[in-house]
Amino acid sequence: MGAIQIRTKIPGPASQALWRRRREAVPEGIYTAAPVFIAHADGALIEDVDGNRMLDFAGGIGCLNVGHRAPRVLAAVRAQIDRYLHACFSVTPYEPYIALAEKMNAATPGKFAKKTMFVNSGAEAVENAVKIARCYTGRPAIVCFEDAFHGRTLLTMSLTSKTHPYKAGFGPFAGEIYRLPYAYCYRCAYGLKFPECGVHCGHELNTLFQRGVAAESVAAVIAEPVLGEGGFVPGPREFFQVVQQICREHGILFIADEVQTGFGRTGALFACERLGIEPDLLVSAKSLGGGLPLAAVTGRAEVMDAPGVGGIGGTFGGNPLSLAAAHAVFETMAEEKLATRAEELGERFQARAKYWKSRWPEIGDIRGLGAMQAIELVENTGTRAPAKALAEAVVRHCHEHGLIILPAGTFGNVIRLLVPLNIPRPQFEEGLEVLESALMAAVEKRAAATPAD
Ligand SMILES: Cc1ncc(COP(=O)(O)O)c(C=O)c1O
Repeated sequence: MGAIQIRTKIPGPASQALWRRRREAVPEGIYTAAPVFIAHADGALIEDVDGNRMLDFAGGIGCLNVGHRAPRVLAAVRAQIDRYLHACFSVTPYEPYIALAEKMNAATPGKFAKKTMFVNSGAEAVENAVKIARCYTGRPAIVCFEDAFHGRTLLTMSLTSKTHPYKAGFGPFAGEIYRLPYAYCYRCAYGLKFPECGVHCGHELNTLFQRGVAAESVAAVIAEPVLGEGGFVPGPREFFQVVQQICREHGILFIADEVQTGFGRTGALFACERLGIEPDLLVSAKSLGGGLPLAAVTGRAEVMDAPGVGGIGGTFGGNPLSLAAAHAVFETMAEEKLATRAEELGERFQARAKYWKSRWPEIGDIRGLGAMQAIELVENTGTRAPAKALAEAVVRHCHEHGLIILPAGTFGNVIRLLVPLNIPRPQFEEGLEVLESALMAAVEKRAAATPAD
């Protein structure tokens, strides 16, 4: 018997009742991906309020690389509850904050002196990275990329690329933000082909300095090593080498947003390692807290020390429970060799997805780094028109058949994998089976609905 056990039609009556209450009490603007409400979770399994057991390939949007309720995380949090809950590092500081900063300084790429501060969310960490970069350089401008996602606060929404639903209606946006196409090779903005293109998109930074903003006005370039919400697009190593080199030539800082790529997801603790990047500032969040809210900015010590006392920080940043969880996440990552596991999961997914691609032309692209894998669905391999409705049908089918999975992409036509890295192999295979059935059902339904020529 498999891990998935469906007892009611999904969503079941208890989930439906909660949906009715949710509609009354909670704003529509908060997106909810799955139709079921969770009652309990362990590892890669979720039980909903109707007793359905489902596989979780979403991990609360990539926050559970160590799985739901990882034993070390639970033990560490329970022990911390018996000591103190909140003190505020800016009032009466505590040792676990320093110890985790030390771990982050040692674990992030770059053999220079580093410092780390903790905050509550990915967006807050990006905000702080930008503040620190501006303060250090004394420059106002930030360069970001198309298809990037950096959060929903005013500044991070301004850095984010996708208009609907993230930006439309929420302007005016923060100023001094300049944007270039990302190295999205499947949809190259310049119509070029990698590697013959010589990463033209990276060199375009120099063009931007002539046409958009003077290099000496730019504090930082911020990029995700692999686009997350933008569709799991790994930028080629060469792209980052070029961008980093140009930044160095102009005294511009490079900020790596590793909120979604971090903590083993891409087959290394940080994706920057895999791409040969040594960012001046690295932003992490999500899986760092093992299920509790925690985010960090780690960077060159002299850069991090630029703001004056009281210029950065916050009431809850580096909450003791989240810090305890994060220490346990570090242990779990090392003991369970989860970065290696990520690589294995990615290879297995690629093998399976290649078979799907050979079967269904609707699979336009398969891509990823480590376990951060995705398929991009298209209407037609020639035009590469995004097949958003098809992706929605696949996701819906998965949810109805016990697999929690998320879409992604600027065009909403990507299916992404954010599975816990320690998922048992049979459960991973079972999840892929469901995904395969979902693809088959959606493709066949679409073919039946399309009139023959
Ligand atoms: C790359 C990236 N940066 C920033 C954020 C924002 O993080 P948060 O939702 O914790 O504010 C996200 C969230 O998905 C993300 O994927």
